[in-house]
Amino acid sequence: MTTDTIGVFDSGVGGLTVLRELYRQLPSESILYFGDTARLPYGNRSGAEILQFVREILHWMTLQGVKMVIVACNTSSALALETVRSEFNVPILGVILPGARAAVSIGKRIGVIATPATAASNAYRHAIQEIDPTVQVWQVGCPAFVPLIEQNRINDAYTYEVAKEYLAPLLQQQIDTLIYGCTHYPHLAPVLRAILPRSIRTVDPAVYVAAAAAQELDLLGLRSTSPAQPTRFCVSGDPDRFAQLSVQWLGCTPLVEQVCLPVSVPFQQVPLESLE
Ligand code: DGL
Repeated sequence: MTTDTIGVFDSGVGGLTVLRELYRQLPSESILYFGDTARLPYGNRSGAEILQFVREILHWMTLQGVKMVIVACNTSSALALETVRSEFNVPILGVILPGARAAVSIGKRIGVIATPATAASNAYRHAIQEIDPTVQVWQVGCPAFVPLIEQNRINDAYTYEVAKEYLAPLLQQQIDTLIYGCTHYPHLAPVLRAILPRSIRTVDPAVYVAAAAAQELDLLGLRSTSPAQPTRFCVSGDPDRFAQLSVQWLGCTPLVEQVCLPVSVPFQQVPLESLE
């Protein structure tokens, strides 16, 4: 059964930056948000692990009847999107192509900060240079950022020092544009902007994936025609922890459910008496 809901997932609170844009650009859409908080950070994991997690999440989301899925995670988009697109019977959008397109439209010397897995995949370099081979791309893996954000240490002096270190090689290359290549990083925008010269433009792919989702919904005739239902928040880890951390970005404390993945439906549906 298909519902009128868009599934959005990330490893944690990073996808809230995409959720915020969806609220702004698609206010009538109902959203099911999943944060795989029991298994974050994704950015230090292998491609095989990430693919497995993404398959499990998509399987669960399709069981919830979502009409579209937005992979609000660069690491999953970089390492799994291409493979899983043909495995599920639902439109699946990632953040990398919309982010790359936006960056190419404004810059020639593009820096990307991302998780180690996304940086190593070269997904942004490939996407950008496929659009314009003359654009230069520098990617930096930033392993400390996601743990610092998930531990709510955004305003620590340490976070500022780490950010300065990560940005230094990009500033040395005189980039004109910086892509937030991890959906968690827009949460660090005040810290990053304090380090970056004003002339450098920043690109938040969340803005452009929300616009791409609007286009895709129109194309498929899937736009919601009724008012949005409250967002359903689910996590694989501690729901209270997620609720407490999220309140600063959502402006209210969300109701959060815990979900155990992977869900094996056929097994769960077997009634006990039929096993006797
Ligand atoms: N927010 C995610 C991304 O965009 C994942 C971060 C992580 O869990 O390492 O890559």
